[in-house]
Amino acid sequence: MRNSTPSHTDSKIKNYYRFHSHIYDITRWSFLFGRTSLITMIPDLPPQPRILEIGCGTGKNIEQLEYHFPDAVIVGMDMSTEMLRKARNRLQPSENIRLVNNPYGRVSLNLDQFDLILLSYSLTMFQAPVDDIFNHLHQDLKPGGYLAVVDFHTSRFPWFRQWMEINHVNFDGHFLPLLKKYFIPSQIKTHRAYLGLWTYFQFIGRQVYKL
Ligand SMILES: C[S@@+](CC[C@H](N)C(=O)[O-])C[C@H]1O[C@@H](n2cnc3c(N)ncnc32)[C@H](O)[C@@H]1O
Repeated sequence: MRNSTPSHTDSKIKNYYRFHSHIYDITRWSFLFGRTSLITMIPDLPPQPRILEIGCGTGKNIEQLEYHFPDAVIVGMDMSTEMLRKARNRLQPSENIRLVNNPYGRVSLNLDQFDLILLSYSLTMFQAPVDDIFNHLHQDLKPGGYLAVVDFHTSRFPWFRQWMEINHVNFDGHFLPLLKKYFIPSQIKTHRAYLGLWTYFQFIGRQVYKL
């Protein structure tokens, strides 16, 4: 699957967002569907929950998370300095929000575990091996913690899949089956975009208590 060297593949994503950070918010509403509704699907969390968004980009979801979970401590992580700069400009300064410039999935985080991890259109961009990503997610979630994911799923049009691959998006359709295998699903929805040009999914699952 992803087998280029880590520094090479990570720098491709960073370079991509160096430019795209400037047009991200004015363009992505037209194809990154299901982000706002995913947040409304998240179940109640314990008081003062710890929330991590991996690949938080320009901070759109963090704003929503703050609204729905006002007492939460929220960590937004992204490998792109430029995307995080946009997030810093968007978000009101708060001691409950921390933004971390870090590539996820290769080394362990030195952070306490989380009640909720959100992956919004970032899972299909990760360049680290899938097994490593899932192992890290298990390590970083508290027992019984929730994972909420929205992302591209499949397309039956090869030209479209190739176009998305050029934009660093994996369209193999293998993430939803893996999420169902490694987490206890509580809600799964799949949707068609643009009359079936592609499908995308929303997934809420729970960390197993013991591996
Ligand atoms: C399509 S954007 C999604 C941004 C945001 N979550 C949203 O829903 O608008 C994907 C983001 O994931 C980040 N990203 C990709 N791979 C990453 C990794 N391994 N670790 C951290 N961030 C990553 C990119 O830099 C980019 O900001």
